[in-house]
Amino acid sequence: MAIISLINRKGGVGKSTISINLAAGLATHESRKHGSKPVLLIDMDDQLSATITAMGGGFDDKFQPVITAERDYASALGQGFGASDSLVVDSLIPRNRTEKVKIFRTNKARMEGLESTLKQREDAPFQLTYFLEPIKHEYSYIIIDNPPSAGMLPMNSLVASTHVLIPIEPDGLSLIGLADILRMIENVKKTTNPDLNVLGIIPSRFRMVRRQARDVIGDMERMYGHLLLPYIKDLAEISAATTAGYDVFSFCSEKSQAYRCLSNLVDAVLGKLGQV
Ligand SMILES: Nc1ncnc2c1ncn2[C@@H]1O[C@H](COP(=O)(O)OP(=O)(O)OP(=O)(O)O)[C@@H](O)[C@H]1O
Ligand SMILES: [Mg+2]
Repeated sequence: MAIISLINRKGGVGKSTISINLAAGLATHESRKHGSKPVLLIDMDDQLSATITAMGGGFDDKFQPVITAERDYASALGQGFGASDSLVVDSLIPRNRTEKVKIFRTNKARMEGLESTLKQREDAPFQLTYFLEPIKHEYSYIIIDNPPSAGMLPMNSLVASTHVLIPIEPDGLSLIGLADILRMIENVKKTTNPDLNVLGIIPSRFRMVRRQARDVIGDMERMYGHLLLPYIKDLAEISAATTAGYDVFSFCSEKSQAYRCLSNLVDAVLGKLGQV
């Protein structure tokens, strides 16, 4: 069992897109095994991008009840209850498989208040860890998509996780941001979660034609070569799949660049976890 957080305080770097497709890819990998366990995708961001895509991008009528649930995980987490199976539903992804990624019923308004609710609790950074304890062993992988912040929500995710993935858009300032995130992770390792591992850095929304992007990738290879995972190109098909409420593996042909980028990433993650 691995609990993998996608973290970057910068917005729009592909955290949610990678969360969705990684969850779908891992669920497909698991479904080919005997005695497989499902994948759970947790959306810690009140924008609910991952939940919305996983529930059909707003084009499917299953979507509304999942984001306006009365018995929802944001309330349960905020009140200090443990997670239960009744909070979990099948998402629609991977679209082309019967074994679906699981997600929590959620509630947008309560998600908006979650950061301040958690801060009021004793042991604030540990709330997600306690919450997941009763159910975590039911899953093969738990993927946590995070908001673009370095606040109490991603802090809870890091404390609850076994691994971190850092998607990064290679541009001028991204190396400074990366150093900040690595420091935050080191701090969590030292103070609360010594078992946390950086699984890798994912250059995301990569545009080969940009000289600056190529230069930044060169710097990253020199500084963090052992952590670099396959990069995800900036491709219209990737955003089209997300907007349509699909995973890339069901939306794009196997020969497409989008499919290959994301399946290389899933394979590399499985390789690093020692699961291939
Ligand atoms: N590889 C890609 N190619 C093309 N478009 C992409 C790619 N990755 C993400 N996008 C698009 O960029 C936008 C931001 O992506 P995404 O929502 O995944 O980023 P994020 O880091 O989760 O953002 P936020 O910090 O706001 O949560 C979306 O419109 C998405 O469709
Ligand atoms: Mg996001």
